[in-house]
Amino acid sequence: MKIRKAVFPVAGLGTRFIPATKAMAKEMLPVVDKPLIQYAVEEAFAAGIEQIIFVTGRGKKALEDHFDRSYEIEHVLENKGKTDLLKQIRELVPKTGTIIYTRQHEPLGLGHAIWCARDIIGDEPFAVLLADDLIQTDKPVLSEMVKKFDRLRASIAAVMEVEKDQTDKYGILDAQAVEKNIVKINNMVEKPNPDEAPSNLAIIGRYILTPKIFEYLGKKEKGAGGEIQLTDAMKALLKEQPIYGYKFCGQRFDCGDKAGFQMANLAFALERPDMRDKLIKFIKKIQKDF
Ligand code: UTP
Repeated sequence: MKIRKAVFPVAGLGTRFIPATKAMAKEMLPVVDKPLIQYAVEEAFAAGIEQIIFVTGRGKKALEDHFDRSYEIEHVLENKGKTDLLKQIRELVPKTGTIIYTRQHEPLGLGHAIWCARDIIGDEPFAVLLADDLIQTDKPVLSEMVKKFDRLRASIAAVMEVEKDQTDKYGILDAQAVEKNIVKINNMVEKPNPDEAPSNLAIIGRYILTPKIFEYLGKKEKGAGGEIQLTDAMKALLKEQPIYGYKFCGQRFDCGDKAGFQMANLAFALERPDMRDKLIKFIKKIQKDF
């Protein structure tokens, strides 16, 4: 079965980014000139996704408006003859009916946010993208994962090696390599202390999941941090179905973290010909003070 639907959980509180996230979802923070959520939505459409499901919380209005038409701005751009910008803002509005919004009434955890989309997903495999994990790559991660899914016909999570002392920030795997860039997962632990972590292989915010996951998410068992964790449901699913990890190529930025977010801005801005030279000049200048 084709992966047609993608869930975007955007209901987290984003406490690490307060006050910026007081009235606005973290996923609306811009990297260069695009909100994080737009990078993720573009990645999903490029992977053949036909329907996107936003699980929102507070601060949903800006996000809804971002993917809707803005007749006022279009009118102004049209009158000023700014055709490139006009094209850009028109293109970012998905076809009518391709976006569905549902609400997570309380931020009970990532697993709970995904469970909120259960009836919209129904009985088919689906993708999950966490927009705060931004990946700079020539091979968009979800497209690669969809290809792997077509062959493996099982749940897949994007994975990468992290520093040993950082395991308490991730879902960490006990896994073995089965082919190039693919590991088969034996077990997983959410945010283990470095001395208890089974490895330094961490799950990153891209998943393809079979609908069976909803059975386990529906148990609403609380895990690390008192939250309903996706990792715990995946761990339970492992007893019934295989789950693979895909070691993606590219640089991942944790944009939920302030330093990670600044690094993403710098890395993405350096890719823009209109900014690159200015930035390099500035970096060289301030480097002398380090
Ligand atoms: P995080 O673990 O980064 O949590 O969520 P957070 O609340 O957004 O941020 P901090 O830690 O307080 O700064 C990972 C992803 O899961 C979503 C978030 O929006 C983010 O995309 N999420 C998390 C939900 O949708 N609902 C939740 O209850 C928790």
